[in-house]
Amino acid sequence: MLIIDEQNILAQGHFRKVYPHPLDDDLLVKVLKPVKHSKRFLSRFNLSRARYGRMTTAFREYEEYISAVARLDRLPTPLPLFHGFVETNLGVAMVVEKIKGADGEVALNIHDYIERHGFTEDLGAMIDALEETVKEEHIICSDLKCENVVISSRGLVVVDGTSDKVFFSINRYSRTLFLRWCTGKFDKLRAAARSYEAA
Ligand SMILES: Nc1ncnc2c1ncn2[C@@H]1O[C@H](COP(=O)(O)OP(=O)(O)OP(=O)(O)O)[C@@H](O)[C@H]1O
Ligand SMILES: [Mg+2]
Repeated sequence: MLIIDEQNILAQGHFRKVYPHPLDDDLLVKVLKPVKHSKRFLSRFNLSRARYGRMTTAFREYEEYISAVARLDRLPTPLPLFHGFVETNLGVAMVVEKIKGADGEVALNIHDYIERHGFTEDLGAMIDALEETVKEEHIICSDLKCENVVISSRGLVVVDGTSDKVFFSINRYSRTLFLRWCTGKFDKLRAAARSYEAA
């Protein structure tokens, strides 16, 4: 079992707490937080939730990752490598590639980058390049927000929020609809990034 020091937390979102891997500086460990059950009536019929519980996010991400590998016959460019699951003292966790910035430290997400540097020309160019790659590789990024995209020495990487949350995803099967939908997601990402700069 992997022993993680809780004090060493690097970041956290709604669903996961992110720690450095205690034995490998190139990896991160994402511990799943306990799931809060929705009181909404329709949530009882969420089949993914019923089957995967608090692993639903992990399942969706992994599904998108595998489908990209199957389509491309190589690893997808804008996603971190996925290494599987591990038992830790904090519960079952995912092991993923640690995306690093140019300084070798864990990469900043767009939100944190803008707080330090503003919306730079470089960032604008990197978002344009990410949009091109995501479209080319047909990666579905349904939760494309500033906190889920990090800035590495190899460009932007989407660390969370991949795959579609809907029961039947037309974006998987229609390239035309996917491209239009994806343009909308990137427009919203740019608008959100600009609004952080203005704040
Ligand atoms: N592979 C990674 N490399 C570098 N940083 C990462 C990586 N994965 C996550 N992070 C950082 O940790 C933060 C939280 O991780 P993540 O978004 O996976 O958690 P989450 O609980 O799924 O988030 P959400 O609230 O969006 O559902 C991210 O905003 C990002 O800054
Ligand atoms: Mg996130």
